[in-house]
Amino acid sequence: MLTRREMLKGTALTAAAFATPGLFADLLSTAQMTEGPFYPDKMPLDTDNDLLLINDSLTPGVGTITHVSGRVLSKSGKPIRNAFVEIWQADSNGVYLHSGDSDIRKGERDANFQSYGRFLTDSKGQYYFRTIKPVPYTDGSIYRTPHIHFAISLKGQRVFTSQMLINGHPDNKRDRLFRNIRDPKAQKTLLADFNPLPDSKLGELSANWDIVLGQTVEENDDGSVYGLGKPQGHRRGR
Ligand SMILES: [Fe+2]
Repeated sequence: MLTRREMLKGTALTAAAFATPGLFADLLSTAQMTEGPFYPDKMPLDTDNDLLLINDSLTPGVGTITHVSGRVLSKSGKPIRNAFVEIWQADSNGVYLHSGDSDIRKGERDANFQSYGRFLTDSKGQYYFRTIKPVPYTDGSIYRTPHIHFAISLKGQRVFTSQMLINGHPDNKRDRLFRNIRDPKAQKTLLADFNPLPDSKLGELSANWDIVLGQTVEENDDGSVYGLGKPQGHRRGR
């Protein structure tokens, strides 16, 4: 896991975005998108929130280093703590950590990129990952604009599945999954600004993306979550 200091470095830029919204604010829920076919079918050896390095390796994955952070919120703007946030994404060659991604067989996968990571939100609902800037890829005849897959679980139950896209990326308009959302307001909830990290000699980027969960998710004062049924496994869809 990255140290607190490194985490703060990644989030300092966007501290203003962490201001607590007014109580009873009715925020627009973040739109959901399909999990897609490439949630890892076998987990990497390391599943922490630093996707650049696998365990103690000294060789990082290839790509533009990006600090991805944000908060998980209820519709009323309350931070959701202990939310289990998972991300997964293609490597710099557009290849997933998944046996069904045909490019793996061509040996094009970046073995140094962790491809998947987990983080439990803190008391302010914040999450943080260090990863690479996503790149576009083609899956068969389907062209995909750059994106990072996100999933959130509460008490072992998947409550949110979506994808974060780069705000202003010209290829977003070409992406059929994104276009299918239609409502511009809902589309906007999926877009995150990728900004240069000040003074970074490596040209690192910072992206902030708050996730507002749907109506049924409310946290009680004791930290339990109201409105969820029994924990159950998540469904795999395409
Ligand atoms: Fe994808």
